[in-house]
Amino acid sequence: MFRRIGVFGGSLAVLVLVAACSPRDVSYRAEVQPILQKYCLDCHVPGGAGFAASGFDMSSHESLMKGGTYGPFVIPGDPFTSTLNMLVEGRADPSIRMPHGRGTLTDREIEILRVWVQEGAKNN
Ligand code: HEC
Repeated sequence: MFRRIGVFGGSLAVLVLVAACSPRDVSYRAEVQPILQKYCLDCHVPGGAGFAASGFDMSSHESLMKGGTYGPFVIPGDPFTSTLNMLVEGRADPSIRMPHGRGTLTDREIEILRVWVQEGAKNN
């Protein structure tokens, strides 16, 4: 009995901590764009290898939302099924983890992209 309360209390504390550290009201211009610039734009602009292979141009909010040859990669409000989030989080096949062959984003950067999509992927 006491053991169960202990476990419950522990996970509650972790939950509160995560909520307190999570980014909120993420700004596309101030937070999302610099991450894409740093990791993705070398390849995902017209003329780059990523664009050539997937049709995905991430240089503007408009082209980012449009997606690629096979449709959108960002589903506003749904980071779980958005390809953008799946690939940077490594939830898809490791061979297509993004950025291609250039390491991984930090946990904080992954979280910023997740919250931004969750909050509607706005052009803010
Ligand atoms: C070194 C070049 C390069 C970089 C950097 C890069 N990509 Fe890619 N990306 C590619 C290539 C090439 C493809 C085509 C699919 C493949 O061959 O794996 C692709 C495909 C994609 C796709 C489409 C996958 C699909 O289902 O067709 C998405 C989404 C994507 N990249 C997102 C990103 C994001 C987000 C970043 C930055 C965090 C990024 N990429 C950085 C080269 C790159």
